[in-house]
Amino acid sequence: MAQPEHPNDELESPDTSRRVFLKQSSALAAWALTPPAAVKAVDSGLHEKMARAVEQMPLRLTVNGKAQQISIEPRVTLLDLLREQLHLTGTKKGCDHGQCGACTVHVDGQRINSCLTLAMTTEGSNVTTIEGLADGDQLHPMQEAFIKHDGFQCGYCTPGQIMSAVACIREGHAHSPEEIREYMSGNICRCGAYANIVEAIMDVKKGGAKV
Ligand code: FES
Ligand code: FES
Repeated sequence: MAQPEHPNDELESPDTSRRVFLKQSSALAAWALTPPAAVKAVDSGLHEKMARAVEQMPLRLTVNGKAQQISIEPRVTLLDLLREQLHLTGTKKGCDHGQCGACTVHVDGQRINSCLTLAMTTEGSNVTTIEGLADGDQLHPMQEAFIKHDGFQCGYCTPGQIMSAVACIREGHAHSPEEIREYMSGNICRCGAYANIVEAIMDVKKGGAKV
């Protein structure tokens, strides 16, 4: 007796083949009815480009004392805006998930994780990044203290640590090493420079310099 060519052939009922036939013919009909220009546009990625152009929104903010008027897609994070559009690469992207603190910047004086902040929400704000801490050639006291106490090793987490350290003192949370550790706990240093970072913060706090 002749064997079926495909094991499923014998299971295929007249109903199944009818459904398959109908599906295939509707797909072909839809394709035939699509205007050639639209097909071409999809091919060349034009729809993506058009969507991007339509989605651009105006944003005004001040970054490190400089007024910025830019256009961005609403989904852009503050971190990506700073690094990719404004080329302020001092702020680092560690985890991009709010877990390491490498992306810490100040918005209107408050420390935030810029990877978790949509840039659009900072409309009209004052943003300070690590590049904006120094006064010209004069380093910020916290930057000097980090150098003095060797508060960095690979240095990758350092910008975020320094921004948090400044905020920690401004918030009034730098009275003891324990308190500093608690309020710096959102900033992870994979090299383990914590002891030196705490010393640097204590030093600035005791020195009474304006931060
Ligand atoms: S990059 Fe933002 S918290 Fe890690
Ligand atoms: S200095 Fe390397 S991760 Fe902190």
